[in-house]
Amino acid sequence: MRVEHLTVEGFRNLSGVDLPLGRRFVVVSGDNAQGKTNLVGAIYLLATLKPLRGHRTRDLIGWEADRAVVSAGVSHDDFVRQYRIELEGSKRTLTLDSSAVRDLEPYFRGIRAVSFTPSDAQIVTSEPKIRRAWLDRAAFTARPSHLYIVRRYARLLEQKSAALRTHSSGAVLDVFDEQLAVAGADLITRRLDILDELAGPVAQVHDRVAGQPEQLVMRYRTRVQGDDTAARADSMRQLLGDSRADEVRRQRTLVGPHLDDVRMELDAHAARSFGSQGQVRSIVLALKLGELLAAHERGDQPLFLFDDVSSELDASRTGRLVELLSEVDAQVFATTTDPSQLRAFPAADTCQLRVSGGSVVATDV
Ligand SMILES: Nc1ncnc2c1ncn2[C@@H]1O[C@H](COP(=O)(O)OP(=O)(O)OP(=O)(O)O)[C@@H](O)[C@H]1O
Ligand SMILES: [Mg+2]
Repeated sequence: MRVEHLTVEGFRNLSGVDLPLGRRFVVVSGDNAQGKTNLVGAIYLLATLKPLRGHRTRDLIGWEADRAVVSAGVSHDDFVRQYRIELEGSKRTLTLDSSAVRDLEPYFRGIRAVSFTPSDAQIVTSEPKIRRAWLDRAAFTARPSHLYIVRRYARLLEQKSAALRTHSSGAVLDVFDEQLAVAGADLITRRLDILDELAGPVAQVHDRVAGQPEQLVMRYRTRVQGDDTAARADSMRQLLGDSRADEVRRQRTLVGPHLDDVRMELDAHAARSFGSQGQVRSIVLALKLGELLAAHERGDQPLFLFDDVSSELDASRTGRLVELLSEVDAQVFATTTDPSQLRAFPAADTCQLRVSGGSVVATDV
């Protein structure tokens, strides 16, 4: 898939952006605080309906604007579709080829993105919640229906929490536990599947970018046992039953995939505790490029949004990155304060954009 054309209006400091793109590589350069991250953030919003970093959706609307609009012509299988998102107050309006979007699955089938930003180091170094979110996002990018699995489980958890807080009867809690066991086992199976799919490509990219022979291994950590979904549901039923008294006292669900983690190890040592900054960067790059490679093996080509190449990579890693990116079909957006760093992208297949004070112009035409 490829963004052929992009317009942005009233999105953070960007307005009047109207760009033909189309090429494989898009280099977005400019000084600090000009709007580079905002430009990839606009594309990320269109592809995922989420802000790129921890921003609240309403903070995405420009201070001087009533509404933010991002729209793009995205080609997929030789066929261009028009994606558009509009934010106004707390309201979000989505259209696909000028029709209101009711079902998100077909929408997400035609536009997907993998992002890599400096704050992604947190995936390795921060608390388990961030790793669960990373894994669920990767599963969602691979199979958009994952969104519904995550939402269903989260809704059940919330309902059960309310039941625990209001001292509902054991029979009511039994009903929630049964539903949680089924939904939770399903979620765990899907997370294990995506982790399995990513393991090979991530290790392969890590070998190539790290420049050192450490082996990266990812392990899903859960108290729920079992080799298939049915066995995992049984295990969850058992664990939930055993925890009932504790749960009633603490008014929280104490078992399930909302508490799981992914342990990342370099040569059997936990990267979270022992990884150096450089090692952490290599792992995160491997996670993100591995996702792209896995997508490539599946026959998908999500957009790759790489924010702030300059702060993330030295020259030799940038070289290896460009080499790797040339092997997958994904369209790549890379922001940098120093475009000479990305000279290795083939000129004939690269759009050069310059961002200044919220305006964006193509400099290679
Ligand atoms: N809602 C908003 N309305 C208007 N301007 C905003 C809004 N939110 C952020 N900005 C401004 O957008 C500017 C550009 O931000 P952005 O993060 O895209 O810069 P950048 O080019 O990526 O810079 P850097 O190289 O430092 O990462 C910032 O100066 C910020 O004040
Ligand atoms: Mg930035």
